[in-house]
Amino acid sequence: MKQSTSFHVAIVMDGNGRWARRRGLPRSAGHRAGAEAVRRVVKVAPGCGITDLTLYAFSSDNWSRPAAEVTTLMRLFARHLRTETAELAAQGVKLSVVGRRDRLPRSLVSAIAAAEGGTAQGTRLTLRIAVDYSGREAIRAGALLPDVDLLIRTGGEQRLSDFLLWECAYAELWFTERMWPDFGASNLAAAIHEFHSRDRRFGGLPTQEAV
Ligand code: FPP
Repeated sequence: MKQSTSFHVAIVMDGNGRWARRRGLPRSAGHRAGAEAVRRVVKVAPGCGITDLTLYAFSSDNWSRPAAEVTTLMRLFARHLRTETAELAAQGVKLSVVGRRDRLPRSLVSAIAAAEGGTAQGTRLTLRIAVDYSGREAIRAGALLPDVDLLIRTGGEQRLSDFLLWECAYAELWFTERMWPDFGASNLAAAIHEFHSRDRRFGGLPTQEAV
């Protein structure tokens, strides 16, 4: 069995829109609540043994959403980066944004550069936020990340949606009906608990049979 000191968790944060609709709120309120969930999860991640956390914030296919929603999301990302940088640095988090930058608003590109610069010394957790990200394009460009150990998807769908296709080759997959804005520490702990109960064989034999 492969031994590793890193623990890479990747999350497809789905369900912001449905969370909002069920409350009679605009989708933007769901995305804002989703940003709160990001804050909660990042805070508890190192205590759960996570060394690498990669969050799918905006796929290259999300450009097809209505312009107003795209603008809301881009502004939310930039604001989140600006307001969270000091706290992330204090928590020992090193932030990096993965994906294409050439199609992002300039204000977001500078917020990314400032957040990456301001958290560059972090050693407790590497937090990657995927924005304008496509797994297929990343493979084509050789822009590969460390292997994913555990892939979590909220919101009830059970698919990868072009996220970390290469890196998830041997990832354990964990799905929940819970919408992303409702996701918190106890859900993350449940996913990790189940992860540790699985027998990861990487193509080998079950542990007890591998004499
Ligand atoms: C998917 O839910 C979510 C997104 C496309 C955006 C993810 C953004 C956030 C979690 C907000 C903040 C993130 C950061 C990094 C600050 P959906 O809108 O597709 O929901 P639906 O499937 O219910 O419509």
